[in-house]
Amino acid sequence: MNVLFVASEAYPLIKTGGLADVAGALPAALADLGEDVRLMLPAYPEALDKAKHKGKAVPLGDPLGVGETKLIPARMPDSGLRVWLVDCPALFARDGNPYVGADGHDWPDNHLRFALLARAAALVCVGGAMIGWQPDLVHANDWQTGLVPAYLDQWGGPTTPSVFTIHNMHYQGVFGADAVGPVGLKHDQFALHGVEYHGKLSFLKAGLIYSDRLTTVSPTYAREVRETDLGHGFQGLMGLRSDDTVGILNGVDYTAWNPAKDPRIAAPFDAGNLDGKAANKVALQREQGLDEDPGAPLLAVVSRMAEQKGIDLVLESVDAIVQSGSQLMLVGSGDPALEGWAREAAEKHPGRVAAFVGYDEDLSHRVQAGADIFLVPSRFEPCGLTQLYALRYGTLPLVRRTGGLADSVPDVGETEDGVGFVFDEATGEAFLGALWRALELYNRPKKWRDVQKRAMNLDYSWQRSAEGYRALYDEIT
Ligand code: ADP
Ligand code: GLC
Repeated sequence: MNVLFVASEAYPLIKTGGLADVAGALPAALADLGEDVRLMLPAYPEALDKAKHKGKAVPLGDPLGVGETKLIPARMPDSGLRVWLVDCPALFARDGNPYVGADGHDWPDNHLRFALLARAAALVCVGGAMIGWQPDLVHANDWQTGLVPAYLDQWGGPTTPSVFTIHNMHYQGVFGADAVGPVGLKHDQFALHGVEYHGKLSFLKAGLIYSDRLTTVSPTYAREVRETDLGHGFQGLMGLRSDDTVGILNGVDYTAWNPAKDPRIAAPFDAGNLDGKAANKVALQREQGLDEDPGAPLLAVVSRMAEQKGIDLVLESVDAIVQSGSQLMLVGSGDPALEGWAREAAEKHPGRVAAFVGYDEDLSHRVQAGADIFLVPSRFEPCGLTQLYALRYGTLPLVRRTGGLADSVPDVGETEDGVGFVFDEATGEAFLGALWRALELYNRPKKWRDVQKRAMNLDYSWQRSAEGYRALYDEIT
């Protein structure tokens, strides 16, 4: 089956979060199952730089009247997967973050930028001949690609079946009603049963309304967006579409996240021999200016700093964490207030708390390898990937019971198969309650090691998830 997979980021070409990990790995996993999958994403300068074997561009004209557009064929660096980069210098030739300018504000023309990405995908769906490859199905992801099925709907008659994956319902791509014409939507689509949302244009809603099937990145999140305010206003719509919706838990790219073969960490280790983990811990303590204290439990966070992630629950607990004899390593960027709070915590507790404010892929591996306990106290978490990486690195996750965290981290106190520590209320108190339970187990080294081994042996490989997507594709093609 020919599958066109459309996303606004894909690791290793460009990454701001988990969407990139998914778009970098899931198409390759589907290809391993025998599907012919091609990825489409904007030709950001960084992506153009990193893509391999770039070929001759195919002109698309000027689909939205904002600039000449071309499709540049290329290959993904590691998987070799084919990728089409949508090149429109007027919209995409900007360095830095794909969504936000240097001033910290969204690019003012994001509606045009991501409409063009979606338009290019829809054009390939209706006229694959121009690139010599006709998709049987298009798989779009998050609001940036929500217009793909809305454009297909305009053609009338049978069109390419579509799947739309919700990675995060909180980001909705909402623009003024005056954007409807410029992005090439029909005025009758700007309606209650179309893209209109409280008088504005919602790209996310376009995906939710016009796609043949919807998926969320965990089964629990599928229920939460229907039944709780995590639907961010779309609970009703998700209820109406519940028969068309399925939750498929994300996977892990174990070629990138494998402590036995990870070139970015100080010493390799695996479930059979955990000795190397201690060397990673000391190395991390040393490089981050933490006291070289092999016995101190080392807690870690690697996260976007956003309200979603509940990092404030950790930051308000810093004194208690330090008093317990633990250390804390914080890695993240985003909300300037949270960044500042993290820096202050590190200044207040030198040797016990360290903070790296910024984005550093290599450091994220070293932290996964060196820490003992990985904190993911999210208020909501559609799937979450870092807890899955932590499991493989024998770093036991402490998580809030929500979304994919609830689906992937059974609590050691609740089941024999437990591999982590789970709390319910989004409060510092509840977070600390789970932490005390974690530290109790940490102080029983043999038991701790047993749980580490169980965690490391879990299999969250992409293959299983890819099979779930393929079953869904089969239903609609
Ligand atoms: P989200 O997509 O909501 O940010 P996920 O857990 O799905 O959350 O994915 C986050 C991804 O981004 C992971 O690969 C994580 O390691 C990475 N990441 C987040 N913040 C940083 C950072 N500051 N430095 C390096 N990697 C980071
Ligand atoms: C989103 C979610 C995260 C999920 C990721 C990949 O960014 O916040 O929970 O893991 O998408 O699906």
